[in-house]
Amino acid sequence: MHVHVALGPAEFGAARLDGRSALVIDVLRATTSVVAACVAGCRSVIPVPDETAARRVAGRFPAGDCLLAGERGGDPIPGFDLGNSPLEFTADRVSGRVIVLTTTNGTNTMLAAAGAAAAGVAALTNAAAAARWALERDADVTLLCSGEKGGFCLEDAVCAGFVVEAMASDGAGALRFTDAAVAARRMADAYTGRLERIIEDAAWARHLHKAGRAADFSACLALSSVDQVPVLSNGAIVPGPARPAAVDARR
Ligand code: MLT
Repeated sequence: MHVHVALGPAEFGAARLDGRSALVIDVLRATTSVVAACVAGCRSVIPVPDETAARRVAGRFPAGDCLLAGERGGDPIPGFDLGNSPLEFTADRVSGRVIVLTTTNGTNTMLAAAGAAAAGVAALTNAAAAARWALERDADVTLLCSGEKGGFCLEDAVCAGFVVEAMASDGAGALRFTDAAVAARRMADAYTGRLERIIEDAAWARHLHKAGRAADFSACLALSSVDQVPVLSNGAIVPGPARPAAVDARR
């Protein structure tokens, strides 16, 4: 099994996802929010590229069935029901509802993952479960780091590294890692036991802090605290089954 990490969207085109599994990563904060929404019992999350598409898709649902969510520049979109803080996706807001989500980077990666044979949503919060999901799929896998505006971002690469580490330490089957996967794993090593340092090191974390959104960090950095992997199905992300925490990404 071949394990690759696309360290930023510039690499998605060359990633050739057909026949492979994909894991979408946007730690701050889109995939953390999607995982939170699924844990809170939403019916599905529909990723869309922009506000216009979000309003169009939401218009297909009966009033009250659907919530508009997302951000631009980290700020909630005026007129939307929810922003992009994982703390907002509580059971009383989202349970049983469809969420139409648009974010600056993360939802574009979710849309790009549709080219894979199977796609799951990964964050630090479900890193161990995401590793197990990929191993059980038993297909070559690409971890897609959403990055920031087309480029690299630290927190997504570190998250990918924790998933790679969990896959490697599971010891199941023969895994072959690309250099990018090895690099991500080494980056995760540097944050093991001190993940909170990401808040100082990562540019987007510093931006969120300045914007008064530091309350989201503990939710985003709660490593392997969730045992489910949301999966992409016909253009929507649906909650996955709860998974046993057999792979330990908390080293
Ligand atoms: C994104 O998709 O770019 C992020 O999730 C932005 C954010 O932190 O809201």
